[in-house]
Amino acid sequence: MKIHGIISLFLLISSIDSQAASVYAGKAKAAAVCSQCHGIETPAAESSFPSLAGRNDEYLEQALKDYRDKTRLSDIMNNIAGSLSDKDINNIASYYSRLK
Ligand code: HEC
Repeated sequence: MKIHGIISLFLLISSIDSQAASVYAGKAKAAAVCSQCHGIETPAAESSFPSLAGRNDEYLEQALKDYRDKTRLSDIMNNIAGSLSDKDINNIASYYSRLK
């Protein structure tokens, strides 16, 4: 009974941690790479780069995968998305989609 309690506490903590980790990892990547062009929240009004904050999660994921496998063409984004793993894409999409 006692051990069972400890195990479920451990599972609870690790599941909270892995959910939070993806948004934090996405944030780190966004801040380091994407924000230079897309901003973190809304880019300057005169910016020619599309804003990502608050956009649909699945839309962002799909766009990044399309850039990665070059079904959507952009010299810049094909290069950048080429180095992202599925997990990176997932993390980044969850991060940006949660912003307002
Ligand atoms: C050097 C500038 C630059 C950087 C850095 C950059 N992007 Fe982009 N991004 C662009 C440009 C330019 C476009 C528009 C390309 C097009 O016409 O499809 C774009 C388009 C996009 C789109 C499609 C938006 C839409 O409205 O369909 C997504 C999603 C995106 N970028 C995500 C990212 C992510 C995530 C990162 C960081 C890993 C990133 N970008 C880093 C320049 C950049």
